[in-house]
Amino acid sequence: MNIELLAVAELAARDAGQIILAALNQPRRPDYKGQTDLVTKTDRECEDLIIKHINSEFPGHSILAEESGAQDTKSDYQWVIDPLDGTTNFVHGYPSFGVSIACLRSGIPEVAVILELPVNRLFTTVKSQGAFVDGHKIKVSNTETLNESLLVTGFGYDHGNKWEANMKLFKHFTDKSQGVRRLGAAAIDLCHVACGFVDGFWEFDLKPWDMAAGILMVSEAGGKVSQLNGINIDIYQDHILATNGNIHEIMLKHTKPVLELLL
Ligand code: IPD
Ligand code: CA
Ligand code: CA
Repeated sequence: MNIELLAVAELAARDAGQIILAALNQPRRPDYKGQTDLVTKTDRECEDLIIKHINSEFPGHSILAEESGAQDTKSDYQWVIDPLDGTTNFVHGYPSFGVSIACLRSGIPEVAVILELPVNRLFTTVKSQGAFVDGHKIKVSNTETLNESLLVTGFGYDHGNKWEANMKLFKHFTDKSQGVRRLGAAAIDLCHVACGFVDGFWEFDLKPWDMAAGILMVSEAGGKVSQLNGINIDIYQDHILATNGNIHEIMLKHTKPVLELLL
């Protein structure tokens, strides 16, 4: 079954990728979901197309998608879709965005595909079978210390307490590591942990579709994923720490107290 799920996810991501790349040559006018939370007609077109692919092969499956919300069929299978992660980057032409599709069975990610654009790198994974980029097996880095690590984070659209808390962590980790990048597409950040470009990623204020696929990608590449307090990852809790495993405990020492202050 997982192979069929993967085939549909790959085809849907590739087709959505074509729409996104074609749109890069056109003016891209955003609508505003919030003061800085952008959405474009490309987000919506990609989501419709991905859902069409899924419905035509697996009409009984549930879907949770960023722009159209939930279609709950009570199936064991649920697809969690971010049709365009990194919309702000896409609007500006900044080269870090992509398509993220996960299929969960009884709440656990089984299959995930993330297409990184505009570079067109296809990250794929099936539970217990490893993670791949363009068909080549990937694994997390083996960096052992924080001061040898390169990290990445992101900042949500809501500039409240979580945003302030993350500013503190950003300062701290920038001081203690070799640097903290902030690219603006959480699914892509997670792929970069999975393939070892960076050693760790953390973020507050994410949605299930930002992380569902990336969680499986990092785990299958040999990394570790948890909430910012070390508790098992849950896509309905809005925070995540994903690392190469070696630096997980070291990072938790700093993220845990900052998170606790918010609760
Ligand atoms: C956003 C990106 C960004 C993260 C935001 C997300 P979107 O997704 O993943 O990196 O910081 O919290 O909402 O809106 O571009 O799909
Ligand atoms: Ca997103
Ligand atoms: Ca999105």
